[in-house]
Amino acid sequence: MGERGKEITAEKAEKVVESLRAMFAYEWLEIYYFLTASWRMTDFAGKRVAKFFREEGLQDLKSVEKIAKRILELGGELPLNFDEVVSIASQHYPHNLPERDNTIGHLEQILKFERQEIAFLQSLCSETFGKDDVSFMLFSELLQDEVGDEHKWQQLLKKEGG
Ligand SMILES: [Fe+2]
Ligand SMILES: [Fe+2]
Repeated sequence: MGERGKEITAEKAEKVVESLRAMFAYEWLEIYYFLTASWRMTDFAGKRVAKFFREEGLQDLKSVEKIAKRILELGGELPLNFDEVVSIASQHYPHNLPERDNTIGHLEQILKFERQEIAFLQSLCSETFGKDDVSFMLFSELLQDEVGDEHKWQQLLKKEGG
């Protein structure tokens, strides 16, 4: 990062890096759950929903990449092994996926996960607002995506009879 870029974030960079790393871990776990769920959901109703899970898992890969770039830009480090990712994210993620043919259960779990994510991103936005504009923009972009996703899952759950 250039001099001026550093100047505008220097004081609070450490705290912001910590938040970015939490979000980084969160997104990775989300990718894991979305894709694993999509591969397991093979019955008729499951297949209908699985493609949306897969889409979102792949979409989140883009988010995780943006977060990684910002962490490195701020002079932070990415978790160097997956245990660290799991331990950072463990407060947030659901511990087990539902039974394979429980499509409603999958949707309910993902919806819960998205809602936690929205609350978490909201707190990261407030934390960085007026302090680190670049990270703030990133968190608010992610927040906007997740708000849209929540709506989508809610609609899908209703459509599937949940
Ligand atoms: Fe996400
Ligand atoms: Fe999400």
